[in-house]
Amino acid sequence: MKITGKTSVYGIFGFPVKHSLSPLMQTAAFQHCGIDAVYVPFEVSPEALKDGIKGIKALNVKGINVTVPHKEKVCELVDYLSEDAEFLGATNTVKNENGVLTGYNTDAEGFLRSLLEEGTNVEGKKVVMFGAGGAARAVGYALLKGGAKVLHLINRNFQRAKEVGELLSKRGNVLVYPLKENTAESLVEDADIVVNTTSVGMKEGDPKLFDYSVIKGETVVVDIIYNPPLTPLLKAAKEKGCKVVNGLGMLVHQGAIAFEIWTGKKAPVDVMRKVLEEALYG
Ligand code: ATR
Repeated sequence: MKITGKTSVYGIFGFPVKHSLSPLMQTAAFQHCGIDAVYVPFEVSPEALKDGIKGIKALNVKGINVTVPHKEKVCELVDYLSEDAEFLGATNTVKNENGVLTGYNTDAEGFLRSLLEEGTNVEGKKVVMFGAGGAARAVGYALLKGGAKVLHLINRNFQRAKEVGELLSKRGNVLVYPLKENTAESLVEDADIVVNTTSVGMKEGDPKLFDYSVIKGETVVVDIIYNPPLTPLLKAAKEKGCKVVNGLGMLVHQGAIAFEIWTGKKAPVDVMRKVLEEALYG
């Protein structure tokens, strides 16, 4: 890589940021497309966020991604928000156009693209989604935007489920439930698509979300976790003959959409996926 006076600067704001795979993925995309740009990690503390955002303008950084814990706060610090970022109250991508900053959220669209890529269209489908965190908001919004007939939202903390349900019901048909034995099982039995947005399944020894033996072979089962590539949920679903989708596609596509917003060029999705697979799974 040759860095010159003309090289554009992009990056990611996070705290911590060391774990982020975005520098690897975006750098590979820039290189592959012959774009003269670098993409670097910026460890920005919550106290420094406001100055950090001002710094984008001051230093003529062309664009950033935003990760935990800054996605919500950044919405207040940019000049404009896309429809998705405004609805979700979360920004994961900022574009700097001559000192004017626009915040975007590419998680929802990235999720939809990752399903479409696997041949799954959510239109008219009955969906059961687990979780009520930030990821659930983006994924639930995507499912409703994609035309899901009904979204059954299940969460351990029922209060959170109700809050997210209230937001998402502006976009479609949402029903909320606490995570209790039998409720989840009976909903899953009748679902076309089941999606996990909780962190359950990331670590060995995690509890099961529900009795996975009720999953039927015709159901599409999605987990936004990408490490491990097959969570116990996905493993059980695969054994039943289900189509299963993990979170790698969502990670790739949210990055690909950010790349397209910044550069106006089609993202090299396969190149981006390959570097992530190598980094994650060897
Ligand atoms: P993110 O921004 O990635 O969505 P988050 O906001 O911390 O992360 O949300 C984590 C989700 O995983 C929540 O839905 C959480 O449930 P609660 O709202 O009840 O805390 C869910 N979660 C984490 N550990 C869980 C467990 N052991 N059983 C069930 N749900 C769990």
